[in-house]
Amino acid sequence: MRVIFLNTIARIGGAERCLLTLIKSLRRADDSLDAHLLCFEPGPLLDEAHKLGATTHVVELPRAVANAGEGVLRDPRRLARLAGGLCALPGFIDRLRRTVARIRPDVIHSNNMKTHLLTGGRDLGVPVCWHMHDFVSNRRVMRPMLRAVARRTRVVIAISNAVAEDVRRVLPRARVEVVHNAVDLDRYFPGVPDEQIFGPADGSVRVGLAATYARWKGQDVFLRAVARVPRELHARFFIIGGPIYQTAGSQFTRDELKSLAEASSVVDRVTFLPFQSDMPAVYRALDIVVHASTQPEPFGLTIAEAMACGRSVIAIRAGGAQEIFDDGKDALGAEMKSEASLAAAMERLIKDADLRNRLAEAAAASARSKFHSDRLGVALIQIYRSCL
Ligand code: GLC
Repeated sequence: MRVIFLNTIARIGGAERCLLTLIKSLRRADDSLDAHLLCFEPGPLLDEAHKLGATTHVVELPRAVANAGEGVLRDPRRLARLAGGLCALPGFIDRLRRTVARIRPDVIHSNNMKTHLLTGGRDLGVPVCWHMHDFVSNRRVMRPMLRAVARRTRVVIAISNAVAEDVRRVLPRARVEVVHNAVDLDRYFPGVPDEQIFGPADGSVRVGLAATYARWKGQDVFLRAVARVPRELHARFFIIGGPIYQTAGSQFTRDELKSLAEASSVVDRVTFLPFQSDMPAVYRALDIVVHASTQPEPFGLTIAEAMACGRSVIAIRAGGAQEIFDDGKDALGAEMKSEASLAAAMERLIKDADLRNRLAEAAAASARSKFHSDRLGVALIQIYRSCL
């Protein structure tokens, strides 16, 4: 079987880490599977996929279209640029169609909203699966467009029950299959903290939030929660990540977060680190990993990855995130958008080393049973076969 994976960006965020885990698991389940990855820009995702045995392709998308996000309607300048970019779109679609025709896949696996739109709108003569990593019902621009083109899609793969319900509301006629994300347990496993990451142990409890700078990831709530954690508790806080999507306006800048840290009087307690290529080492060097999203999280891959690394995790009880942890057993829940609730959970865990250890051990055990990536390949091959 030959599959083309379509992914807009070639930088590596959550949906891209899932894609890599998926390709690895698929090839483990069936080593004759011929995987092709096609991105709309060059970047590290292609190199990683190549290492897993995938053939890689780039068809560049006009920048103005790549940059267009939900905010475009509110910004006349971006709307004008988008209109300009749209002229280049037919040429792009033509190149895309020709590349797909040359590869002659049995199935197309589309991994982002923009690739869903492109594959839905055109009859590529190949069955198309949409892998849905986000909610659609709250997207004013994307929702009607996806609805208009969904007819051609054979199956929508949802990363959680929450996303599946949302898809069913927007696309009532679509066939929806839930396949919870998995984690590459060959890379994400418990281990000794590496001193290179945050320096040698100094007795302080290290608390970190790792996420893209998308505004809804809640770095602002985290900073305000840090301000509520008593200074005399020996803790250090970290924000790890950066802006990765081209969609303008939807992300914090580093300067903005630094000003927020200043306004909350926590500058001296918080360290900012850019994206790290070795995220398992980052998790292992933290004592507490915090998830703080201010909208229901479709899944929350960092929660699963941190659990797999045997960390004590605080996660927001909402959306798909609450399907992946058992509050009080393998992670601690906190209320969405509540710095008081997040601060209380952080304070409790910082003070209680026994609780941290208990949660961490349970998290690693849960990860081995819930997030094992072997189930992905098996599930996806079945789904692909059902589309042929
Ligand atoms: C998207 C979702 C996130 C999920 C990731 C991987 O980024 O917002 O919740 O973990 O995709 O599926």
